Amino acid sequence: MTVSLDNAPKTADSKANDHIVKLEDIHLSFGQTQVLKGVNLTVNKGDAVSIIGPSGSGKSTLLRCINALVMPQKGRITVNGTRVDQLTKESERIELRKRVGIVFQQYNLFPHLTVLDNIVLPPTKILGVDRSSAEKLARELLAKVRLSDKANSYPGQLSGGQQQRVAIARALAMKPELVLFDEVTSALDPETVGEVLQVIRDLVRDGMTSILVTHEMRFAEEISDTVVFTENGLIVDHGSPEQIFHTSTNPRIRQFVGGLGARGAVRDGEGI
Ligand SMILES: Nc1ncnc2c1ncn2[C@@H]1O[C@H](COP(=O)(O)OP(=O)(O)OP(=O)(O)O)[C@@H](O)[C@H]1O
Ligand SMILES: [Mg+2]
Repeated sequence: MTVSLDNAPKTADSKANDHIVKLEDIHLSFGQTQVLKGVNLTVNKGDAVSIIGPSGSGKSTLLRCINALVMPQKGRITVNGTRVDQLTKESERIELRKRVGIVFQQYNLFPHLTVLDNIVLPPTKILGVDRSSAEKLARELLAKVRLSDKANSYPGQLSGGQQQRVAIARALAMKPELVLFDEVTSALDPETVGEVLQVIRDLVRDGMTSILVTHEMRFAEEISDTVVFTENGLIVDHGSPEQIFHTSTNPRIRQFVGGLGARGAVRDGEGI
């Protein structure tokens, strides 16, 4: 497939010391279950990194480590200069979460608030931004996610894809330093997946550092600077989309991307 020149990798030199996220030797267990077994990952500012791998391999847990929703037993996590693994107080973790957006499969909008108010709420309540500034930003973000005409609608009046785009706008309203996306299209009807992917594609092109857990292989191939393959609590391999999707010699990766490639091809055929 064709990779847009917009997504051409920046030179190695320009990014050498520009990491925004660094995970070093992360070990995490829930009770007796070892979920992450020594994960290392570096994400540079402005990059899009996709995490792919089988169910239960630790993808969501890895994302949740980055914004301190779970804490590893061992290892170092640095997010834009903050040692996340050392944030022992919940208040400190909440501060971090103001800086790291996360969007989940379930969009969890407030059903009793309009679309606009769902987006205005986090900056006003959490950051203390005044209502008019927050509303101005919310309208800009609604335009960005192509939902200006839905500002006064309620979530229940929107399709799944539209609700997910509101959830993305809500995350952006906090002006995060990076955004984590955990399978944000998995619960959507196929017709609405494309519009959500388009919003993420735009964000990545605007330079928003993004870490995405996704099953949309063709999308991951198109937008990612780096693709990471996880299995059994480890990063088995990482590399450019070309390396992971086309030239990997790892039989497990070949099997995995081959198996899901068909789904990606269907999406591609839908013209997103
Ligand atoms: N809060 C928790 N308590 C106990 N076990 C958990 C918890 N969260 C995750 N696990 C376990 O950790 C392992 C990895 O889970 P995780 O959700 O990170 O996988 P995943 O790669 O995101 O899978 P999927 O593709 O199905 O979303 C699984 O075995 C899961 O059951
Ligand atoms: Mg998951």
